[in-house]
Amino acid sequence: MARLLPILVCPLIVFYLLSSFSTISATAEDQSYARSLDPKLLGLKKQKLSHFHFYWHDIVSGPNPTAVLVVPPPKNSSTAFGTVRMIDDPLTLGTNITSKLIGRAQGFYASASQKDLDLLMVMNFVFTEGKYNGSTITILGRNPLFNPVRELPVISGTGLFRFARGYAEIKTHMFDLNTLDAVVEYNVYVLHY
Ligand SMILES: *[C@@H]1O[C@H](CO)[C@@H](O)[C@H](O)[C@H]1NC(C)=O
Ligand SMILES: *[C@@H]1O[C@H](CO)[C@@H](O)[C@H](O)[C@H]1NC(C)=O
Ligand SMILES: *[C@@H]1O[C@H](CO)[C@@H](O)[C@H](O)[C@H]1NC(C)=O
Repeated sequence: MARLLPILVCPLIVFYLLSSFSTISATAEDQSYARSLDPKLLGLKKQKLSHFHFYWHDIVSGPNPTAVLVVPPPKNSSTAFGTVRMIDDPLTLGTNITSKLIGRAQGFYASASQKDLDLLMVMNFVFTEGKYNGSTITILGRNPLFNPVRELPVISGTGLFRFARGYAEIKTHMFDLNTLDAVVEYNVYVLHY
């Protein structure tokens, strides 16, 4: 027994030393790459709620489309399941494409349902007007096309929209069944600093 004891105890000591070393080094690393910060240091004071209203123009037809097919439907299906269109859609103040341009919606949408016309929308709204010029809002959500009002989450943003969250309520203003061109009204509610 006296001879067995060191053999049993040694691996335990080694194990203990190794695990305590790794604990110490992990703590040291944690401290070197993460720290807690006063939000005021980043200028994050009072959170505010902003409402944006504009129209999104999806131009599929004609010589200058703003939405282009990048992945055609892999199988013949009524919902064109799997289709992906890349977009760089103008955002304007009014319903007419000639009204004031305030930014663009860059991203893609994809047919994500085998049964219904549900799109997965992934977009960055890049504002180009006024104090929001250069700031972006990121949208990622489900767009069931046949619902009169759809809700898309605002997942975050950049510039004046750092730490943003919120949602967009969207309504189809115009949809042309022949050309597939669409104008959609956006009401976006964003909490940001
Ligand atoms: C696709 O399916 C529809 C209805 O199921 C059928 O009428 C049409 O011919 C099919 N098209 C192709 C290219 O297979
Ligand atoms: C958009 O405005 C232009 C003039 O700026 C006008 O010619 C055109 O008819 C308008 N389109 C719609 C759909 O109202
Ligand atoms: C928006 O910002 C860009 C780049 O900083 C600048 O070139 C452009 O003139 C600005 N537009 C407006 C309307 O302020």
